[in-house]
Amino acid sequence: MSPQEVARTLEEAHQRIRSARTDYDGDLRTGIDLGTATCVITVVDAEGMPVWIDFDRTAAVRDGVVVDFAAAAAAVRKLKATAEAELGVELHNAATAFPPCIGEADSRACRFVLEGAGFDEVTLIDEVSAANKTLEVTDGVVIDVGGGSTGVGVFQSGELTALDDRPGGGHHLDLILAGSRGLTVAEAEELKRAGTDDHLAILRPGIERIGSSIRDLTRGAEHLELHLAGGALMLPGADTTISKYLGRSVRAYPHALLITPLGIARYAS
Ligand SMILES: Nc1ncnc2c1ncn2[C@@H]1O[C@H](COP(=O)(O)OP(=O)(O)OP(=O)(O)O)[C@@H](O)[C@H]1O
Ligand SMILES: [Mg+2]
Repeated sequence: MSPQEVARTLEEAHQRIRSARTDYDGDLRTGIDLGTATCVITVVDAEGMPVWIDFDRTAAVRDGVVVDFAAAAAAVRKLKATAEAELGVELHNAATAFPPCIGEADSRACRFVLEGAGFDEVTLIDEVSAANKTLEVTDGVVIDVGGGSTGVGVFQSGELTALDDRPGGGHHLDLILAGSRGLTVAEAEELKRAGTDDHLAILRPGIERIGSSIRDLTRGAEHLELHLAGGALMLPGADTTISKYLGRSVRAYPHALLITPLGIARYAS
């Protein structure tokens, strides 16, 4: 898929946040992204196009590890109920994703959260492969920089040839901003998302640290273009900072924090 088509799909996804599309055909599929910063439900139609998106800023999951099972299940149950009420259908099956380095036990916990929230059949997928269900990169590096971690997958001839992750994401940028501006982390997060000030000078070292993780995880794949997913690098100028730091071509997308949630839904049965 061309970057322009991906951008159009993401634009469409953005329009579907708490605003259901009614003219869909066929069965619906559901994805749940149990993120560190946000838990997102995405419902797509038979073509994989977004029908409904909603989110909850729960702190029940950290880097794929469920730290508060009851809160995570309650958040998912509420997102499921709201989606069902808006769409007038029952949602039985769902997919969910885990960061690349999560062990089997923790990824199983993600499944249990969805089952605890009332889903009957749950599909599990790593979040980088999920992101690539949206981007459809054949030869390139897919990078998901979320709230807590940076997941990196190398795709060559359509095959995932390397997959790993490192700590470091939007939360770490909040810590830097909070320290430098004398704010609480919550205030720093709000200020950063508002996008009203230019924080690039302060946050450059944090962004370059993410860049350094990307360099470590893409050795031998330096010729491939980098595709940025996840919310953390939606910061204006972050893509050029990464590109200059690594001396590589970088592709950023609008509403990049919807790339992985949409891809997860496309994996559901
Ligand atoms: N407009 C924005 N500008 C800058 N940063 C943003 C913006 N929107 C979201 N973020 C940052 O993106 C991060 C959340 O991204 P995302 O939803 O991809 O993470 P997550 O999936 O919850 O976390 P993870 O994948 O690490 O578990 C937060 O740290 C937030 O500060
Ligand atoms: Mg994520």
